[in-house]
Amino acid sequence: MKKRVLSGIRATGRLHLGNYLGAIKGMIELQNNPSYQCFYMVADAHTITTPYSPSELQKNRVEIIIDYLAAGLDPEKSTLFIQSQINEHFELAYYFSSIVSIARMQHLPTYKEKVKQYPDANTMALLNYPVLMAADILLYKADLVPVGIDQEPHLEVAREIARKMNQIYKTSFPEPKRFATSGEYIPSLKGEGKMSKSVEGSYINLTDSLDEIVKKIRSIPTSTEVGGPIIGGIKTLFILSEIFLPKNLYQEFKDKYHNKTLKYVELKDTLAQAIYEELKPFQEKRSQIVSDINYVKKVILDGAEKASQVAQETIKEVKEKMGLL
Ligand code: ADP
Ligand code: TRP
Repeated sequence: MKKRVLSGIRATGRLHLGNYLGAIKGMIELQNNPSYQCFYMVADAHTITTPYSPSELQKNRVEIIIDYLAAGLDPEKSTLFIQSQINEHFELAYYFSSIVSIARMQHLPTYKEKVKQYPDANTMALLNYPVLMAADILLYKADLVPVGIDQEPHLEVAREIARKMNQIYKTSFPEPKRFATSGEYIPSLKGEGKMSKSVEGSYINLTDSLDEIVKKIRSIPTSTEVGGPIIGGIKTLFILSEIFLPKNLYQEFKDKYHNKTLKYVELKDTLAQAIYEELKPFQEKRSQIVSDINYVKKVILDGAEKASQVAQETIKEVKEKMGLL
């Protein structure tokens, strides 16, 4: 039997380079490996764990499916679906919540960060975030989860839940592992922290024009003096250059930095051009897909049907073993 893969992205807005390199690239790599059966969802139910606009959410969850298609996820090879259309995710999360302590959830760094960010929205749904995520993964008995390194604490919770369920109820959940890409942690354009859509000025969107990319890359803070330690904005610049520039060109810029002959604007504009070249095919494909919304609707409908079959099997097993059937 093929090994299963599951991943998801919240529907909070447009995708950025961090999402693409940390998550989507890994999703594509696994989709194109015939040893895996892949399920990729839009985590719309996770989106409501922090303050949001219903009309934006309704739009964004379809936008993410369009992004998936434009990036190269293929509905013939992977099941693409919207999380909230499969009720079993909520059902399994509820069953799992009976074996997870409140204290364990309260100590997660991701939870603490969100509470700090939204002190008036410290909700049950937010506390339950990792339990729902474990349900997403284990409902499909996924072995591998392509996500960025920031999601590791959530995967640890999913493994704990799998172990505990198997021990107490003799279920057969695998312990899911993270599938890492070489871009598992893309730093912020501001030179501090990670690229994130919740930090204005930290990211490049996949749909940005060349002009926008040039402007954003030029805004990366670089000290006037070259040749010093590679930290802050300079580090961001070199990490992105290593990913996007040909090896010899990257090495050339690095040598120039160390022998103090580098002109930042030259490196920045070369990098911006290279990022744009990588995003161009995505942008072209995206505008094609947007013009055929019926196709997108069909992908979503077919995806829900396929996901639902697997979800029902797992729920049946869990209900039987928990004495609920
Ligand atoms: P954001 O932090 O911008 O809100 P999400 O939390 O929605 O992004 O993340 C969606 C996916 O993209 C996750 O798999 C996450 O690990 C990955 N990801 C997000 N930001 C980065 C980053 N800066 N570098 C690498 N991967 C990232
Ligand atoms: N928590 C993930 C994020 O913020 C999104 C997500 C929800 C997810 N459910 C998932 C990722 C299941 C992988 C598997 O990016």
